[in-house]
Amino acid sequence: MPTVSLPSFAKINWTLDVLGKRPDGYHELRTIYQTVGLADALTVELTESSDIEVATDGADVPDGAENLAHRAASGFLEIAGLSASRGARIFIRKEIPAGGGLGGGSSNAATTIVALQHLTGCRLPDDRLFRLASSLGADVPLFLIGGTVLGVGRGDEVYALPDAPPAHLVVANPGLHVDTATVFRSYGSELTPRDPSASMLSFLSALRINASPTVVGNDLEQAVVKDHPRVGDARSALLGAGAVTAWMTGSGASVVGIFESVGAAVSAVEQLEEQGFWARAVETIDRRSYTGALGL
Ligand code: C5P
Repeated sequence: MPTVSLPSFAKINWTLDVLGKRPDGYHELRTIYQTVGLADALTVELTESSDIEVATDGADVPDGAENLAHRAASGFLEIAGLSASRGARIFIRKEIPAGGGLGGGSSNAATTIVALQHLTGCRLPDDRLFRLASSLGADVPLFLIGGTVLGVGRGDEVYALPDAPPAHLVVANPGLHVDTATVFRSYGSELTPRDPSASMLSFLSALRINASPTVVGNDLEQAVVKDHPRVGDARSALLGAGAVTAWMTGSGASVVGIFESVGAAVSAVEQLEEQGFWARAVETIDRRSYTGALGL
């Protein structure tokens, strides 16, 4: 049966502003996502049984029905009217740390949908496609767009922005898995939000003049650092290794630093690894590269 292999890229959040709690229990966000050059390798085979199988080589990533890629495949085949006659065999070679605020599981889910569109030749209308993605998780729809993306609502209502200028980044992870729901709960009860959307609006101004992003930040960072001091240590280590600025991505536990050159980023990775952190130098992936790589 036909098989498609695609990269499943990670994201960072340049900014993440939490505006408040919504009646549905979620938090209203204003965030700017960016796809980056760190990717899992996803292989999807279309099968003639109605079974869906998911396997990964990641120690802390669930196989089978608990993997978000499974729900993505079953949702897609159902909507496409193929669930009785077709199934999928999915294998994910993990590079993106799980539970790290880098959107790994969400990206795998979105990329599974893209792969199945290629394999079945069935392209869902955009409204169905984005509704399916957002039903899987708030961070899934951004991966149907790629590049620099504005996220509002739960973060799942997404709009393509002009690409941010290329940046040399280092992503570092202290080896912690942070639970997103717990982070939002502790944010709500303990911290006073600062000016709504402040960092997002400053970032958008920089984008307008194609200036390098320096106005970055994350309203959830303080709450995560309080419970997990190693996240704060990773941020300090990035700054100590020469980052222009460093901040947490998503609900953590990964942190990101901006560096002035590839060389500076690579030497920072060595310093962070010596201090026991997982670290990678990554470039931003703009929309053209992203859509080209996924055949969107
Ligand atoms: O959408 P996702 O499954 O990634 O969200 C995980 C959890 O994070 C949600 O169940 C919710 O508790 C919290 N969350 C939130 N507000 C958001 C996104 C997520 O409170 N905008």
